[in-house]
Amino acid sequence: MIRLGVTCREGLSRPKTLIGLQKDIAASVLMAAWQDPSGTYDDVCRQAFHRLKMSNGVVKTSAPGRFDDVDDKLLNIIDKELRGLCSLAVHDLGVSDGTTAVEWFGRLDTLAPEIVFTLSDYYDRCYVVQCEGSRWTAVLDAELLPMQFFRGPLVLTPHQSALYYPVNWVTWRLVARLLSPALQRLRRQWGPGLPVPRGFAVDDYLLLGPEALKLVADNERVRFVRHDVMKPLDREYSLIRVMNLLNLGYFPSERLLGALQMIRNSLADGGLLIIGRSMARPNGGWTTACSVFKATTTGAEELASFNGGSEVSEFVRRAFQST
Ligand SMILES: C[S@@+](CC[C@H](N)C(=O)[O-])C[C@H]1O[C@@H](n2cnc3c(N)ncnc32)[C@H](O)[C@@H]1O
Repeated sequence: MIRLGVTCREGLSRPKTLIGLQKDIAASVLMAAWQDPSGTYDDVCRQAFHRLKMSNGVVKTSAPGRFDDVDDKLLNIIDKELRGLCSLAVHDLGVSDGTTAVEWFGRLDTLAPEIVFTLSDYYDRCYVVQCEGSRWTAVLDAELLPMQFFRGPLVLTPHQSALYYPVNWVTWRLVARLLSPALQRLRRQWGPGLPVPRGFAVDDYLLLGPEALKLVADNERVRFVRHDVMKPLDREYSLIRVMNLLNLGYFPSERLLGALQMIRNSLADGGLLIIGRSMARPNGGWTTACSVFKATTTGAEELASFNGGSEVSEFVRRAFQST
């Protein structure tokens, strides 16, 4: 009927509803607690983070050890194909909180100690906005579109079911309408780096988990950038990985093709693309359906595929041929 959430740090010690479902957590509470070095609410925050959904419909889901079933086989291929290179420029696209990127860097680093590693995500920040005259707090994603509203014990998202949680569903729509003029004004007048217009208070949170923050801070060969997979990359890479992002369920075929052409434009001849999707196993753990492509002067050579291969292999071939 009504789904309560967590809007203050103390609430993190009761992260489940009465019927045992995970509660939604206000993004500001979640990020502040997760990035706190004490790590008290590590698991609670990680799980809540992975349920966040961005305004383009893509979720933040990730998991430690998610690619364990294929990582060793992929490393063998990388070793064989790229062994001659004295430096390896790698880009991991759409990394969410960075969990799997941190693991991957650890493995690649043993293979090529000179590796230069970029991890990126487009939805890399959230903005917690207080509009003058309203008691509701809005959480906006990187497109400045609402992903949450919270107040008192309620955390509203646009994805709560009308059938099971009608109060949340209706309240989301009312609050969205109520705040819409103010949030539209904010979108017209403000962007990251600009002074916040009068009538608003904005707090800004980087959507990375503590392990990824530490990796970037401690290692000068690692950097995190904001990057939209639909746009050209900033340099040439010898290895690009994109997992659980360029899927048919998220993007129509012409957008997939466009993104893959951008990737090809930044992949060195002879460079590798690893692309795939995770499937949850019924009894826990994950299976990775993925493919490895080598960029050739005439197109794409599929070097290997695991667990049925990537569902967008045909798009990779078409994109690499036409670029
Ligand atoms: C399901 S997560 C995958 C995380 C990680 N790659 C993994 O497999 O564990 C998808 C990520 O893609 C990001 N994303 C969505 N649209 C994007 C875009 N246009 N460009 C780059 N990243 C995007 C989301 O913010 C999210 O963090």
